[in-house]
Amino acid sequence: MIKFLLFSLSFSHVFSIVASQALPSYSGRNGEWQLLHESVGISAMHMQLLHNNKVIIFDRTDFGPSNLSLPNGICRVDSSDTMLQTDCTAHSILYDIVTNGFRPLMIQTDTWCSSGAVLPNGTLVQTGGYNDGDRNIRSFTPCNDDEYCNWIEFPQSLIRRRWYASNQVLPDGRIIIVGGRRQFNYEFYPSSWNGVIFLDFLMETNDQGLENNLYPFLHLLPDGNLFIFANTRSILLDYNQNMVLKEFPKIPGDDPRNYPSSGSSVLLPLDENDAIIEPEIMVCGGAPRDSFIQAMQGIFIRATSTCGRLKVSVPNPSWTMEDMPMARVMGDMILLPTGDVLIINGAELGTAGWELGRGPVTRPIIYRPSDDVSNWRFSVMSPSPRPRMYHSSAILLTDGRILVSGSNPHVYYNFTNVEYPTDLSMESFSPPYLSPEYDPIRPRILSADEKMGYGGKLFWLSFQVQAYLTVNVLSVTIVAPSFATHSFSMNQRMVLLKIAGVTDIAPSTYNLVVAGPSTAEIAPPGYYMLFVVHAHVPSYGRWVKIG
Ligand SMILES: *[C@@H]1O[C@H](CO)[C@@H](O)[C@H](O)[C@H]1NC(C)=O
Ligand SMILES: *[C@@H]1O[C@H](CO)[C@@H](O)[C@H](O)[C@H]1NC(C)=O
Ligand SMILES: *[C@@H]1O[C@H](CO)[C@@H](O)[C@H](O)[C@H]1NC(C)=O
Repeated sequence: MIKFLLFSLSFSHVFSIVASQALPSYSGRNGEWQLLHESVGISAMHMQLLHNNKVIIFDRTDFGPSNLSLPNGICRVDSSDTMLQTDCTAHSILYDIVTNGFRPLMIQTDTWCSSGAVLPNGTLVQTGGYNDGDRNIRSFTPCNDDEYCNWIEFPQSLIRRRWYASNQVLPDGRIIIVGGRRQFNYEFYPSSWNGVIFLDFLMETNDQGLENNLYPFLHLLPDGNLFIFANTRSILLDYNQNMVLKEFPKIPGDDPRNYPSSGSSVLLPLDENDAIIEPEIMVCGGAPRDSFIQAMQGIFIRATSTCGRLKVSVPNPSWTMEDMPMARVMGDMILLPTGDVLIINGAELGTAGWELGRGPVTRPIIYRPSDDVSNWRFSVMSPSPRPRMYHSSAILLTDGRILVSGSNPHVYYNFTNVEYPTDLSMESFSPPYLSPEYDPIRPRILSADEKMGYGGKLFWLSFQVQAYLTVNVLSVTIVAPSFATHSFSMNQRMVLLKIAGVTDIAPSTYNLVVAGPSTAEIAPPGYYMLFVVHAHVPSYGRWVKIG
């Protein structure tokens, strides 16, 4: 994602470019794993980073007792819980990425295999789950006084039950909730006048009940329409007019990419420096069509090793396929601040579902989408010592690390006499760009505006680079924090902003002016992490509110 930039000459102090210095090579290290906690008490099925640098984590209430007690002797009493009607343990935590501490939170009804999105004002809205929780909405508003903020539950607030659905924040700040088990339709939060809208595509892609289309991949495109990928097919949906505008070609190979054949997907970074922003979808991994049935009979077949890329706005879109270094099902795809894609967690054999995966893939890979196609665009990273199988998750943190936790392929928490015991640990993975050898050229943001407007409105920040700055390899990216579950990061998106000017104001210190995103279709309103990236080395992120 490195671009040559045009600089405004209206700045009094025009920046002097240092181009002669050799840039360090990016491939030096293979990343580093760090164990943050042997146990956080629950298994991280769902994770969402909030703009106060705390992470909401939760699993399901019908897992039985977790390894973390609720505070002050509180118990959850729920006569409809299928496992434990009085449960004095937590199924959600709030993790602080700065202090590495966490505390239990209280969930009343079942959040199993649910979905979520953060509203423009920073409040997390979680939708659905199972059993008594399948039509409930729960919200969590980040607060400073951590002792008191907790989940707020809104019973029966969804029109349909949403179990294995996906969400996307829309340009007007609403949320669209698509699909779920036996739900061939979508609805909105807040609810719209037309209620639930049937979507044939979800029925057509459910493989006669074998599914392979749950947790559909949703990506909001710059034209305001919604790209939906399910199984092997994808469409462009105008959700305002309830019209399918277009169907794209099937992804080659006939391997389904959605739950239980769980692959993953990202919208590759949108670049405001391009004359026309050309959105491109990437889908990686998955499992062959009969993999689930085979795994039920104890035969674990190899996962899919291909990735496909699709430019959705060109006249005749077609998939470009590439081979990953290894096969992977249940991998999480994460956009890094540099614009590269990390693929982490998952297994080499079988599918998602209870007891159905084998052969953990503990090595993440990094894919460089902007590298020349003739190059090998994947790098294999160091392995984690811990398998991260079904019901594990991973998210990008403000400091550039990846938070990795969870893994529980069993019906209940199960630590003994099983393959892949329930994992309650928490790790972080530091991509190679965090290696201290890059510190001399790493930007450090000193101060910045708090709000960013649309339509190219100017945004100011200052930063330092210790050694030297090479302007033609400088970029500014904004990344939306995503709701990660079941290998898909909902609402994940990255935009490279247009740089309006750079000036040096003191030794090693620079003023930087960027233009805000052109439209809310490119970056829906809300809190984003902003990174200054220099020669593929990102700063720590800083939260900005876009709207
Ligand atoms: C969780 O608690 C169970 C039961 O007390 C115990 O056997 C298990 O080792 C604990 N697991 C972790 C990771 O703390
Ligand atoms: C954000 O909006 C929601 C829905 O209107 C509201 O419930 C919540 O309290 C708001 N959060 C903040 C931080 O104002
Ligand atoms: C854990 O799994 C084993 C093997 O399936 C089973 O025998 C045992 O009852 C399970 N334990 C719990 C707590 O579910």
